[in-house]
Amino acid sequence: MKKIIIANFKLNGNKKFIKKYILKINKEINNDKYEISIAPPIPYLYMTEQLIKKNKKINLTSQNIDINKIGSYTGNISGKMLKDIKVKYVIIGHSERKIYHLENNDLIFKKILITKETKLIPIICIGENINEYNKNIGINTCIKQIKFFINEKNINLFNKSILAYEPIWAIGTGKNANTKYIKNMNKNIRNYLNTLDKKITNTIRIVYGGSVNINNFKEIIKINNVDGLLIGKESLNIDNFIKIINFNNNQK
Ligand code: PGA
Repeated sequence: MKKIIIANFKLNGNKKFIKKYILKINKEINNDKYEISIAPPIPYLYMTEQLIKKNKKINLTSQNIDINKIGSYTGNISGKMLKDIKVKYVIIGHSERKIYHLENNDLIFKKILITKETKLIPIICIGENINEYNKNIGINTCIKQIKFFINEKNINLFNKSILAYEPIWAIGTGKNANTKYIKNMNKNIRNYLNTLDKKITNTIRIVYGGSVNINNFKEIIKINNVDGLLIGKESLNIDNFIKIINFNNNQK
């Protein structure tokens, strides 16, 4: 499986910015090494799909999904709609949605289920907060989060999914976790999943997110246990993002 690099625009960008961004990537991407996915704000998903249509190297991620399939749910987006415009991945359980939209694990679990049911691929975010980090119990937190989801179904729920290990204290703070720590966390998460089902674990990519930028990405993407990157702020810098996706491990 290829490592994946996901650009999460969050609540940023407009028509002009996104058009320029995608056209530039279409022109300048020269690397087949990574799978690339773009998560623009929902109103620009369709436009982005139209712009990347002929570019097989890039696909689409949605920043959200609703747990309902159809009906009177003002303001929501269904999996079927996302599928209709060729979205491939959906970010679920992001700490910003937990904090600002009060999403809890029950809702996140339902979002994972509907995503799988619609044949979209969930990018499930897990990670410890600063207190847990300081107490050195980050791995316990991540395993607890995973257990919550799989206890209600089983590890099958994670089949072919992406787990995004994102320490909450590193998101948007400019303070990334150090490579040794990331390496350990991703390895321990994978080891834990392996104890449940090795075959399914082999289908899961565990990526890292949290203040990845032009200065630190090389060290992080090179880590064995890191199967990709989820990049927020730095993905908005088109020149830097292109440098990141065009980076080849053999380069210095
Ligand atoms: P950041 O965001 O790169 O701006 O820290 C990462 C994320 O929230 O996925």
